[in-house]
Amino acid sequence: MTRDLRARIMHIVGAGMFTGLSLAVGCLDGAVEGANTGTGAGGQGGAAGQGGAGGQGGAAGQGGAGGQSSVQTRCFSLEEIQQNAGDGGGGAGGAGGSAEACPSDYHPNPVSCVSYENGRLEDGQCCYDVDDPGIGACGRPFLVGGAPRLAGVEARADWVLDPAADDVTALDPATRAALAEAWLADARLEHASLASFARFTLDLLALGAPPALIDAAQRALSDELQHARACFTLASRYAGRPLGPGPMAMDGALGAPTLAGAAASAVREGCVGETLAALLASAQRDRARDPEARRGLDRIAADEAAHAELAWAFVRWAVARGGEPVRAAVARAFDEALAQVRGAHPGERAGIDAAAWRDHGRLTEAERARCHLDAVRDVIAPCAEALLSAPLSAPSPDASPGAAASPS
Ligand SMILES: [Fe+2]
Ligand SMILES: [Fe+2]
Repeated sequence: MTRDLRARIMHIVGAGMFTGLSLAVGCLDGAVEGANTGTGAGGQGGAAGQGGAGGQGGAAGQGGAGGQSSVQTRCFSLEEIQQNAGDGGGGAGGAGGSAEACPSDYHPNPVSCVSYENGRLEDGQCCYDVDDPGIGACGRPFLVGGAPRLAGVEARADWVLDPAADDVTALDPATRAALAEAWLADARLEHASLASFARFTLDLLALGAPPALIDAAQRALSDELQHARACFTLASRYAGRPLGPGPMAMDGALGAPTLAGAAASAVREGCVGETLAALLASAQRDRARDPEARRGLDRIAADEAAHAELAWAFVRWAVARGGEPVRAAVARAFDEALAQVRGAHPGERAGIDAAAWRDHGRLTEAERARCHLDAVRDVIAPCAEALLSAPLSAPSPDASPGAAASPS
């Protein structure tokens, strides 16, 4: 998928058909089979070497990375938290990030969909608990005030599709419980993507966007409903009981968008978030053997690629319409988001059967981080460079999502 998606995005951003495809590999191709090392993937940071933002280190967790528990402690300097809270790229809630008190919650990485909670001051740093469920195809987060917003979970059957016939009781209990947890996390994120596209549609209307973009946003919203249902179905299967979303809070979620602000959000949530999600879901699908997981990931991978194209098309349109101020905001958003991806320090989940984990559609944290870095190097960074260097003129009529010709 890597080459195809890059060629399609290159077409959208106005660089024409991209022919310099020396990379024959897809995300993770031939890379990490059999790896479940328990080591964080942060050591791979900087592999891209493109885009000029790799040196910032992003959300450099200093404690617990590479640990053996899914609940970890991450510590950040007060300076880093204040800087991140002030630049709009991350988010700090609760106490507000003063030098005297740590925010109660902290979200340094808009594309990871992971928040840090229970902030407390330890040895001059703000330390947080993070229970990372091993998020896979994260997709488009619903960010409110810089932090991802999710609905709760209820015992309900109406979001569950036809139950799979395959029995999962042969899985060891720890792996099965972890699969239920991981797919439930994905389900909540897919459900949140519904809200994100609903808001994006309103933003498109407010900004006077072309009908092709509005139409694509509406279709994407419908896709996300199916993604959420597929993931709730998988989560329910492993949990052994039906699960679905509860109500979702919408306070503070809507506002009057600016072209630069909407474009920067689309960079974080779509150009980066959904491009990563598409390639990650494709890699998960390629390693999965369980038919139900493969079926769900097959659709998610294809749809997320289309959603990524929509985001790139919107950003291209916004830059052409808004000129240099919008292009500068887009450049900043790419720098911040890519630095955060490169600076991620995931820790591995302990006590699971890694082969079964992959068979049922999941990747280890090291594999996931490697996939993200490959996606940044092979797709996002070069496409961002092409977009930012394109002439500030109106996009061609066929530069709408889905209009890109298939690479020959
Ligand atoms: Fe999705
Ligand atoms: Fe999506």
